Amino acid sequence: MIKIAPSILSADFARLGEEIRMVEAAGADYIHVDVMDGHFVPNLTMGPPVVASIRKVATKPLDVHLMISPVDPYIEAFAQAGSDIITVHAEATHHLDRTLNLIKEYGKKAGVSINPATPVSAIENVMHLVDMVLVMSVNPGFGGQSFIPHSLNKVRQVREMINRQDRPIELQVDGGVKPDNIAKIAEAGANVFVAGSAIFSQPDYRAVMDSMHKNVRD
Ligand code: DX5
Ligand code: ZN
Repeated sequence: MIKIAPSILSADFARLGEEIRMVEAAGADYIHVDVMDGHFVPNLTMGPPVVASIRKVATKPLDVHLMISPVDPYIEAFAQAGSDIITVHAEATHHLDRTLNLIKEYGKKAGVSINPATPVSAIENVMHLVDMVLVMSVNPGFGGQSFIPHSLNKVRQVREMINRQDRPIELQVDGGVKPDNIAKIAEAGANVFVAGSAIFSQPDYRAVMDSMHKNVRD
């Protein structure tokens, strides 16, 4: 069974609470929150106060994707704001093992992400620490970009790495995911799908998420 994590980056920020209620009612499994710092990625979004506000509205787990560097000084604030899963980039920290342990010290699920140009070997030695691996299928920074086809090979490689572990680890894909490409991404081994523009650009959120589920099953 796949999980869908709508990225609120493409939501109407003036109506954020309502947008979250609507995607949850439409079948969202996680709420994906994209945090950008204008340094690790060329865009700025939101910080811990916004996560804390969302926490009061959301009933589903908050899947917080940190695209920030340095990241360690902000883990505590994002944990206390009510994040459930905190994902950091392998490229954003010199000491990935330390960063992931820090997330776990706050009792949160730890995710690790790799950019399109980063080989999967970058996370080989931290697999025992993570609850989720996020394979970026666009260069992070903006919603609405096209899926990079080569990412499928990396999803397959990460799926093999996960299968060698003795416990479940989620495999998430983020960037350019749409109803018409979700089937092949699922076939490559992903089970959690982030989708921003594909969902929020449409009037009927449930219709988009239903067609994502249906296309994976067909
Ligand atoms: C990109 C973000 C994504 C983005 C996805 O830097 O991490 O979560 O919002 O947006 P779409 O689904 O429009 O590619
Ligand atoms: Zn994201």
